[in-house]
Amino acid sequence: MYRSHSCGELRASDINKEVTISGWVQKSRDKGFMIWVDLRDRYGITQLIFDEQRTPKDVVEKAKTLGREFVIKVTGTVIERESKNKNIPTGEIEILVKELSILNEALVPPFTIEDETDGGEDIRMKYRYLDIRRNPVKNSLMFRHQVAMKVRNYLSEEGFIEVETPYLIKSTPEGARDFVVPSRMNEGQFYALPQSPQTFKQLLMVGGMDKYFQIVKCFRDEDLRADRQPEFTQIDCEMAFVEQEDILHIFEGLTHHLIKDIKGVEINEFPRMTYDEAVRTYGNDKPDIRFGMKFGELNEVAQHKDFKVFNDAELVVGIAVPGGASYTRKEIDKLIDWVKRPQVGALGMVYVKCNDDGTYKSSVDKFYDQEDLAKWAKSTGAKAGDLICILSGQTNKVRSQLSALRMELAERLGLRNPEEFAPLWVVDFPLLEWDEETERYHAMHHPFTSPKPEDIPLLDTKPGDVRANAYDLVLNGNEIGGGSIRIHDKETQALMFDHLGFTPEEAKAQFGFLMDAFQYGAPPHGGIAFGFDRLVAILGGQETIRDFIAFPKNNSGRDVMIDAPANIDEEQLKELNIKLDL
Ligand code: AMO
Repeated sequence: MYRSHSCGELRASDINKEVTISGWVQKSRDKGFMIWVDLRDRYGITQLIFDEQRTPKDVVEKAKTLGREFVIKVTGTVIERESKNKNIPTGEIEILVKELSILNEALVPPFTIEDETDGGEDIRMKYRYLDIRRNPVKNSLMFRHQVAMKVRNYLSEEGFIEVETPYLIKSTPEGARDFVVPSRMNEGQFYALPQSPQTFKQLLMVGGMDKYFQIVKCFRDEDLRADRQPEFTQIDCEMAFVEQEDILHIFEGLTHHLIKDIKGVEINEFPRMTYDEAVRTYGNDKPDIRFGMKFGELNEVAQHKDFKVFNDAELVVGIAVPGGASYTRKEIDKLIDWVKRPQVGALGMVYVKCNDDGTYKSSVDKFYDQEDLAKWAKSTGAKAGDLICILSGQTNKVRSQLSALRMELAERLGLRNPEEFAPLWVVDFPLLEWDEETERYHAMHHPFTSPKPEDIPLLDTKPGDVRANAYDLVLNGNEIGGGSIRIHDKETQALMFDHLGFTPEEAKAQFGFLMDAFQYGAPPHGGIAFGFDRLVAILGGQETIRDFIAFPKNNSGRDVMIDAPANIDEEQLKELNIKLDL
């Protein structure tokens, strides 16, 4: 028997019990006549004591050889501790050891296995299994498990059935590149790993499953960021005989339940905002509405003077930074440098200080008078003591630049409180999005999303204005979910493929199976997928999903622990009929 108890279990009420526990040596202190060892497992830490007076001599000798992270098993008696440790649940007791077996020795770990470790990111990724022994990582994984359980239980209670869908499939367009897998048995052909189970869940609706969900891995070959991994997990759902309202209702319920159950916070409102309004007021489609700093468009009140920069701009837009009037010249210059960084890309920034006495001082006083500046303050909602930051240029670019500045300032001002939760539905997304590179329209969500019926006539005249029955759930400035009502008839689906530039032959080759299925009684249906890693991270008070994934990839998409991706040998390439031309 390796253990009668875990390392986190024993209390004062267990005193005098004879117990056996196993675990890793966190640290040991050798005082000559006495050795203390902290023994750790997933459940906690228990102090062991080896005492020359009371512990057999050979056991004491063996204890002297223990190094950090050795795996051991001990048997002994639970005794009361002389100096108690109030910081840990087992702090009132220790185990007076009688027997010790070393189950496995360990090399000295390359970083300390402590909450505050001395190991940098790279080394911890390389030895992720050691990193997992640390509380912050271990707790994140346990937290992830809890959230998954709650999601499963909730959806199951609501009548959803978890169905697994295949990983070796054909391309499902979600806007990223596919990871592909060569097929040995089908020479020259490739599977694609699913970017999502989108087409399968729709086929499950045709199959009459009615309410499907799956906590499922998805694979997307795209540039990585803090909230993106090449393989990530979705809570994927689909429902038949529903309208948008039904779906929003169920998933508001799920989100409400999770935040209440896990954080003890009651969310009473799930406000909605159209895509247009989100972009206009916050510069992007996933606004963090925990704080204000809404955009004020200034074209009308800023393009009537001789300031060429503004006059030439498609959009002049500003935000009011609370309390920013007190920023020094140096601080403002730093802010200007910040917006000019290549990652943000602004050419410059105009600012206005709203003084406490009601006057204004701007960086463009040469061109604008107090009356003009008062109008800018009104449009941006700036009050005395605020700083107005204004950017100008091409509409889309300026919006995303100002949005980046808004988030950065909010972060600096402490307005992004991780214990506060502000969900938001963004609705009425455009159906199509113009792609400059390929010079054609792409589906903004995916090609199976249904246009708003009243907008269908616009498909031929103003395709960019057609709205979709598509929605995103945004939580604290992160897109945690997205979905849509689907097209469920062959004609509309064909029309959609046509507008996306597929010839009927191409559409048939790629999605014939779905179009076929639609001819055999496809019910109206729709669904949503939550980014599970993102949801867990945000509930855990963070935005970096890597911390909540057991074995994540680094920023170059590599697993540095197992060293993947890697070359494969000649033999394997030959079998797959692949010739490399490097
Ligand atoms: P979408 O592409 O919006 O929709 O994805 C759903 C959610 O998945 C999360 N997500 C990611 N998380 C981590 N790393 C990534 N690389 C990544 N990409 C996406 C986001 C996103 O909101 N099939 C549709 C859903 C549907 O229509 O029902 C889909 O996949 O949180």
